[in-house]
Amino acid sequence: MMNVLGIESSCDETSVAIISDDKLTANLISSQDFHVKYGGVVPELSSRAHLQIIVPLLKDALKQSALELKDIDVVCATAGPGLIGALLVGLTFGKSLAYSLQKPFIPVNHIEGHIYSGFLMEDKPEFPCLTLVVSGGHTLLLIVKSHDEIIRLGTTVDDAAGEAFDKVAKMIGLGYPGGPKIQKTAENGDPKSIAFPVANLKNHYDFSFSGLKTSVLRYIQQKYGPEKKIPESDLPDITASFQNAVIRALIHNAERALKEYDVKSVSLAGGVAANKVLRNALGELAAKYKKKYVVPDFVYCGDNAAMIAYRGYKIYQSGKRFNYDFNAFPGLLPGTFKVK
Ligand code: KG4
Ligand code: ZN
Repeated sequence: MMNVLGIESSCDETSVAIISDDKLTANLISSQDFHVKYGGVVPELSSRAHLQIIVPLLKDALKQSALELKDIDVVCATAGPGLIGALLVGLTFGKSLAYSLQKPFIPVNHIEGHIYSGFLMEDKPEFPCLTLVVSGGHTLLLIVKSHDEIIRLGTTVDDAAGEAFDKVAKMIGLGYPGGPKIQKTAENGDPKSIAFPVANLKNHYDFSFSGLKTSVLRYIQQKYGPEKKIPESDLPDITASFQNAVIRALIHNAERALKEYDVKSVSLAGGVAANKVLRNALGELAAKYKKKYVVPDFVYCGDNAAMIAYRGYKIYQSGKRFNYDFNAFPGLLPGTFKVK
C-alpha cells in the first residue's frame, strides 16, 4: 500500500490529508475564522495559528486513516504561491517529516493543487481539459493537456475574481469574506438591473476586475453620496449585477477557448468555484459545447490538503524527485505553466 501525506498552509486554512492507494482516507481542514474581525487575513497571525494546529491535525489524520507515521511513503506540501510565513510552516514541517522518515518530499504548487481538486471526484476530468481556476489570489484559464503539461491561456492583469468579491463586499458593508455574502445577497436581486462593464483586453484570454470594482464604487458614490449610505433593499440588485459582470467575463473567455481548442472536458476550481451561479453558468457552457463538466464538491473548492496530496502523488508517480531544502515561493513556483 502507498500512503501519501498532503499538507496545505498557504493562507488561512491549515489542512492535512492522506491518500492511500488512490483513496482519500483523511482531509482535515482547520479554518482561521478569527481574521473576520480584521476584515482580511493578517499574515503574522495566520503563521502562528498554522504552527499551533498542524501537529494535532497530523495526529488526527493518521488516526482517521488507521496509520502510523512510519507508514507514510511520500510527504507533499504546498510550496507556493501564498503568504510566505504561512507557507513556511507547512513546507518546513513537511520537509522535516520527510527527512526524519527518509521518504521522498514533493513540493506542490498551490494552483496546480486547485486544478487537481477535480480529480478528487469520482468522475474525473479527461485530457485535454479546459480549467478555470478562480480564487482569492488567482484567476487563470488553463488547458491541462496531461499530468505533465499545463498551458496558461490567460490570467488576471490586476485583481483576482475572489479578491473583487471581497473588495466589493467590504465597500458595500457586507464584510469578509465577501464571496459567500455577495452570493447570498444576490439571490434576491436582478442581475440585469445595473450594467456594470466587462473589460476587453489585448490578450483575449486575460481578465481584469479592478475597473469593475471602480465602477461599482462610482455607481454607489453617485447614487448614495460620499457617505455611501446604501439602503438594504438596494443591495440585492447591486450584488447580483456585480456578480453577473464577474461571471460574464469568466464565461466569455472560457467560451472563446472552447471555440479555439478541441478539449474533452471543462473543469472549475478554486474558492470562487463554490459560487453556485458560476458553477451553473460554466456547466451550461460545457453542455452547449458537449463537453464533460467536472466541478469539485464544495469541500474541495476552498483550500484543502487532499488536492495537494493528489497533485503531489501524480508528480511522484512521474518520477520527479526533490531535495529536502526546496524553498517556499510567495509567487508561482518557477517553471510552472507554459504560456500560450
Ligand atoms: O481558494 P481560496 O479558498 O483561497 C485562495 O487560494 O485564494 O479562495 C478564497 C476566495 C475568497 O476571495 C472568497 O471570497 C471566494 O474564494 N469565495 C467565493 C465564494 N466562496 C468563496 N466567491 C464567490 N462566491 C462564493 N460562494
Ligand atoms: Zn487557494
